[in-house]
Amino acid sequence: MSILYTSTTLGPLVLQNRMVMAPMTRSRATGNIPNALMADYYAQRGTAGLIITEGASPSPNGLGYARIPGIFSQAQVEGWKATTEAVHKKGAKIFLQIMHSGRISHPLNMPAGARVIAPSAVAASGEMYTDAGGMKPFPVPEAMTLEDIKSTVAEYVQGAKNAVAAGFDGIELHGANGYLLEQFIRPNSNLRTDNYGGSIENRARFVLEVVNAVIAAIGREKVGIRLSPFGVFQ
Ligand SMILES: Cc1cc2nc3c(=O)[nH]c(=O)nc-3n(C[C@H](O)[C@H](O)[C@H](O)COP(=O)(O)O)c2cc1C
Repeated sequence: MSILYTSTTLGPLVLQNRMVMAPMTRSRATGNIPNALMADYYAQRGTAGLIITEGASPSPNGLGYARIPGIFSQAQVEGWKATTEAVHKKGAKIFLQIMHSGRISHPLNMPAGARVIAPSAVAASGEMYTDAGGMKPFPVPEAMTLEDIKSTVAEYVQGAKNAVAAGFDGIELHGANGYLLEQFIRPNSNLRTDNYGGSIENRARFVLEVVNAVIAAIGREKVGIRLSPFGVFQ
């Protein structure tokens, strides 16, 4: 038998085999609430060792794509419970990927009152799909104030706590592929002149604040981060 099928451990977790499913946005969460179709989809893959879910936003401001799920409202927590219960019945462990889209977003995809925010007021190049209007150029985001930075860190913390309440075994911070965390790291999307921009120490500051705050809230064995240092996407 292939070693792939043998059990292993991830920190305190026992995985039933060594296959891990990569996070993939599926855009099936109508109204940004995880539903029964999603629970079926993940349960069908519940024979893996570990599943990392599609990116889920910790804030209305992070819902940049059409029909992606959130992890900030009570309805979303309740919706995700169907997925975690169904997956656990099949024996897999499951981490929620927490993804804030930042400038990779369009107001037509977002709920009323949500804002397109990013480290600096620099639009991503290209276009994105919207349900309401088809392909649209990326908008110029609002540069986050220090108050926005603080409140966004708090949203990641609440999202992580909500994920645990929904039955996830842990969370993965999406620090890759051009979304909010990576927008801070990269010098082309981060033109800030305060403590959050300039040197690599400063550009990493927001990411590390989120990492540390989330670890303080739910424990280090439940927290991962995805990075894409060689990526050029977005
Ligand atoms: C449809 C689709 C959606 C994806 N959504 C996410 C996502 O939500 N979060 C993430 O970190 N990566 C996402 N990815 C990237 C995948 O996790 C993976 O890194 C990528 O597909 C490259 O692996 P592959 O060469 O095996 O396809 C997505 C990829 C695809 C094709």
